[in-house]
Amino acid sequence: MIPLPAFTLPFLLLLLSATDAHNITRILANHPEFSTFNHYLTTTHLEAEINRRRTITVCVVDNAGMSDLLAKHLALTPLKNVLSLHVFADYFGAKKLHQISKGSTTTSTLFQATGEAAGTAGYVKITDMKGGKVGFATLDAEGHYDQLTSTFVKSIEDVPYVISVIQISHILMSPEAEAPVAGPGDVNITTLMEKQGCKAFADLLKNSGAEETFVQNVEGGITVFCPTDGVLSSFMPSYKNLTTDGKVSLLLYHGVPVYQSLGMLKSKNGPMNTLATEGSNKYDFKVENNGEDVKLDTKVVTATITGTLIDQDPVAVYKIDKVLLPRELFKEAPVAPAPKGSKGAKEKDTAAADAPGPGTDDASILADQTANDNNGALRINGGGGWMPIVVVLSLFLGCLVVI
Ligand SMILES: *[C@@H]1O[C@H](CO)[C@@H](O)[C@H](O)[C@H]1NC(C)=O
Ligand SMILES: *[C@@H]1O[C@H](CO)[C@@H](O)[C@H](O)[C@H]1NC(C)=O
Ligand SMILES: *[C@@H]1O[C@H](CO)[C@@H](O)[C@H](O)[C@H]1NC(C)=O
Repeated sequence: MIPLPAFTLPFLLLLLSATDAHNITRILANHPEFSTFNHYLTTTHLEAEINRRRTITVCVVDNAGMSDLLAKHLALTPLKNVLSLHVFADYFGAKKLHQISKGSTTTSTLFQATGEAAGTAGYVKITDMKGGKVGFATLDAEGHYDQLTSTFVKSIEDVPYVISVIQISHILMSPEAEAPVAGPGDVNITTLMEKQGCKAFADLLKNSGAEETFVQNVEGGITVFCPTDGVLSSFMPSYKNLTTDGKVSLLLYHGVPVYQSLGMLKSKNGPMNTLATEGSNKYDFKVENNGEDVKLDTKVVTATITGTLIDQDPVAVYKIDKVLLPRELFKEAPVAPAPKGSKGAKEKDTAAADAPGPGTDDASILADQTANDNNGALRINGGGGWMPIVVVLSLFLGCLVVI
């Protein structure tokens, strides 16, 4: 009888944590009254950021509540900023909301995390009110807040200390979040690079004629990885050695024809096509991450993202610490020697990079979860993590049989 209580607790923890790899789209799909909110979480790519985080609260409003927001006809970025105000970087379940010590608290939101919110504009004040109500109000840059116009309605999903999805009565508004931002047509990516430490790369884009291809892709969505000036200067002798076509291909290799926020890159692993990809000339590279550092592996070099110049749907430009060398132009690193004769054919079969929407890699998701685990509970990936549970279950049953 003795091993039973000792065994039950970890077993229950495992069972509970099986739901861990949360998917906000799927959670809300069970509630048609939130379909508009859910739709805009996907449109603004906030869903990837929510799914990636391990301690989070999402405040949703029903379709009627969303019509107040949509009536404002905000552009995509302000709309995303307003919705970001509804995602708290902390866990607030119904119980915690009703037991706020001192009666009120302030919490940071994903709008604050964008770095676009001035002062305290990215914070929300939560107040425990008379009659069991809980009110929410956004702060302005100076820390002032409006009437508590939005109140807690009910809990939708609650995984204690991981994710809480709650319904609130009204959309949270803030002039800072709603403020218009420059449209994609106004973003001049080469000027942006020149001002932020990537002038040499911008000059190469202009002089080679590759700039036009980048500019043409801005409206439909683009992600650019630019080597910083110091990195590029040591590469220039090799660059000069390339043919004119080779130079253009190398530069186009640093652009991806889809928008990828840093949050999206941090939650994805896998091959990514580039602006240089054309038919059998794959010119792709692999995105690898441990949940924090994003690495780009070309099989010749592995570069790391070291900074963000802009991350504003549909344009993202990041700094990298190495020039990306495509294996179509440079020799692969000796650590991964490919069989000479069958190389081309083999890559075609295994790379499978038809679209720039890489799949996920279970091993690194697992690493991500362990790294971010601040509750001390053992976590298992919901998608591929049933095996350990089955093992524990068998041990548990075995234990019962022994008893
Ligand atoms: C989340 O769920 C939606 C709907 O079921 C699905 O389309 C999407 O691919 C899922 N996302 C992830 C990251 O699994
Ligand atoms: C970007 O700005 C530079 C300098 O002002 C200008 O020469 C260039 O034409 C601009 N590019 C685009 C695409 O507007
Ligand atoms: C340039 O190309 C020549 C001939 O292919 C080669 O010998 C030389 O090492 C190359 N230089 C650089 C810096 O890559």
